[in-house]
Amino acid sequence: MTLNLASKKDWIAAAAEPLVREFETPLYVYSRERIESAYEAYAAAFAPAPHRICYALKANSSLALLKVLASKGAGADIVSGGELRQALRAGFRPEDIVFSGVGKTDEELALGLERGIGEFNVESESELRRLSALAASRGARAFVTLRVNPDVDPKSHPYISTGLRENKFGVPIEEAARILREARAMPGLEVSGVQCHIGSQLRDLGPATEAVKAIASLSRMLLGEGFALRTIDIGGGLGVDYDGTGAPAPTDLAALVLPQIKDLGLKLLLEPGRSLIAAAGALLTRVVAMKTNGARRFVITDAGMNDLLRPSLYSAYHHIENLSRGEETPLIQADIVGPVCESGDFFAKDRAIREPREGDLLVILDAGAYSFSMASNYNFRPRAAEVLLLGAVPRLIRRRETFEDLTGAEIE
Ligand code: LLP
Repeated sequence: MTLNLASKKDWIAAAAEPLVREFETPLYVYSRERIESAYEAYAAAFAPAPHRICYALKANSSLALLKVLASKGAGADIVSGGELRQALRAGFRPEDIVFSGVGKTDEELALGLERGIGEFNVESESELRRLSALAASRGARAFVTLRVNPDVDPKSHPYISTGLRENKFGVPIEEAARILREARAMPGLEVSGVQCHIGSQLRDLGPATEAVKAIASLSRMLLGEGFALRTIDIGGGLGVDYDGTGAPAPTDLAALVLPQIKDLGLKLLLEPGRSLIAAAGALLTRVVAMKTNGARRFVITDAGMNDLLRPSLYSAYHHIENLSRGEETPLIQADIVGPVCESGDFFAKDRAIREPREGDLLVILDAGAYSFSMASNYNFRPRAAEVLLLGAVPRLIRRRETFEDLTGAEIE
């Protein structure tokens, strides 16, 4: 069944005009119900096995959204000291936090130890040694999961593929057993399990299944050697349906993963980001100007690549609708672009859209993940405000930045 792309806007269309009248544009809007139902779908799919769903904060680390997930019982997957502090601030329990990342500093590792986080997803032998020394010096032991690189092609965008030998992530799977035998002898470490994450926006679950099979058989071998493992962490990566061509659901992932790990008796850790939050968010933006250069038409919006970088960086598709025009307005083909001084500042190229007039309100859909969290101040532009809808009631969860916010850290 093909999804009617236009229906993607249904959850926000009616609320949009009043929202931007109150909070102005560009404006990020999220729905608590949509976050909760995405989480519930995961929890139901994996209910047959002991598991913990550790939300990957990098997808969107805004406090109010984190609180929604923490209160549903989610754990957290973090990649920096800042995300660690933000996760704790939002109420995630330290023991439900996994600390991932290829370049954790000693300061970040120490912070994780001090706060008593659940697992460190370690990515190299050097990190194992540093973590062990830091833990031992505190008379503590850190639970570690070793991130292995299974060398499978996730068939996603090259910038968000992580499980190939050529990528910087993890240790080669053939070396994992030797490395863990060494880790077992280190004074500050407790080996908890193995982890893999092969990439993001996975739509074909074949490669992910292959990777899970590989880490399940590695875990089986380690258990056979007497390792007291407690977890198996399959990372995140489940894709979402940006363009109406479909995406797998948590139940599809569970059907492939659960049979592979059933016999191990380990707790399954998952690290989804995008699939929990992408479809719960949208970016509202007004048309500043319409313009024609030769044969090409441009719709110029007040949001730019600094607000939402994904189309520029990954040629990512986000569905866009003109909320100010109905079906009586003809469709035109146009490039929908921002005001930033870069030709790469676009949201869509040669896209069909109901012919906008200046002042019209557009919605850019599925902008809950890797959208606000990747925003910048490029062109000295303040970052957008964020609103969370609780049913029909909007709550401002981040005010629009001001010029003073941008200049506040400067020293004259
Ligand atoms: N775990 C690890 C170790 C990761 O590196 C990531 C994402 C996740 C979990 C969460 O993956 P998800 O379920 O969200 O796919 N900025 C890019 C995506 C980068 C993903 C980086 N790692 C984008 O906008 O598409």
